[in-house]
Amino acid sequence: MQRAEPQDFDRVLSSMCTQPHPAAREAAERFLATNPGDPGTYETVAELEDRAVELLGTVTGHPNPNGYVTSGGTEANIQAARIARNRADTDTPNMVAPESAHFSFTKAADLLGVELRRAPTDEDHCADVDAMAELVDGDTVLVAGVAGSTEYGRVDPIPALVDLAHDVDALCHVDAAWGGFVLPFTDHRWHFGHADIDTMTIDPHKMGQAAVPAGGFLTRSEDLLDELAVDTPYLESTSQATLTGTRSGAGVASAVAAMEELWPVGYREQYHTSMENAEWLAAELAARGHDVVEPDLPIVAADMTMPVTEDLRQRGWRISKTGAGEMRVVCMPHVTHSMLRSFVADLDWY
Ligand SMILES: Cc1ncc(COP(=O)(O)O)c(C=O)c1O
Repeated sequence: MQRAEPQDFDRVLSSMCTQPHPAAREAAERFLATNPGDPGTYETVAELEDRAVELLGTVTGHPNPNGYVTSGGTEANIQAARIARNRADTDTPNMVAPESAHFSFTKAADLLGVELRRAPTDEDHCADVDAMAELVDGDTVLVAGVAGSTEYGRVDPIPALVDLAHDVDALCHVDAAWGGFVLPFTDHRWHFGHADIDTMTIDPHKMGQAAVPAGGFLTRSEDLLDELAVDTPYLESTSQATLTGTRSGAGVASAVAAMEELWPVGYREQYHTSMENAEWLAAELAARGHDVVEPDLPIVAADMTMPVTEDLRQRGWRISKTGAGEMRVVCMPHVTHSMLRSFVADLDWY
């Protein structure tokens, strides 16, 4: 049988993950056979995980964060909802999120028995605080905002959402799974230093250029993370707050390697390059008469007919669409200007 090879990245415009930075790849390979889920046995990788959390705190304006490296944004969002549910005193908990929140919140709601209330977004695809306020009540345990939404790269008004949550004694969670490594270079107010956010998702395996799996979950204080702790009788450590047991040491090591290599200079350069690419593509599509959702972060959505999108897929381009049917291009680090030029050249063929 022929040896299977992974896809090339040279036509991938749809992914929120990317090629790992060479330092991240090397670290992942070195730590393949380690398990941070058993820190008493795998001590080095456990120390690396502490370092990962510290670095994630630096990126998100928190000098003393708690948290861990998750399997991805889905796990981190589930854990945020789980903390909120566990600490609340209600038999009928609900959580309120904008329509733009990632589908992992639907999974969290299903798993945890928490009702998910989604509020419509405003005309610019951001959370509408008034619409969310209408859904909040005494049984609300969590208010979630997105800092870098999956479809349009939009940033919700996080400080206002924190106020909304705390007014009813709910927690406020920020999902910066994708946006967390570009937002530090913008004027947005999205992190722990800007508002009293309780929990946050920020994934090194997306814009952070770490190898998969390396998600990130952070809490403002230790007592919040402790809501998740269960006893671990057969391990040397006595309790565990993570959702999964055995975890990827490769993910942890690669997250540390990527952040040590790229924070802040490399990530800043990447942000500027990705934004230039996104703005260039948006202008080219607009010049061809398409309705374009102006990029705020490096994601471009444009109104294109689906047959064109399908046809482009036939030509090897990996592109996705939004729920509203627009073509969506995510300008990840592997997406270069020349790649986009040849994409637009293919578009001109129609
Ligand atoms: C904003 C946001 N949150 C959560 C997720 C889920 O992350 P994962 O696929 O790593 O579980 C994604 C994935 O793209 C995302 O864009």
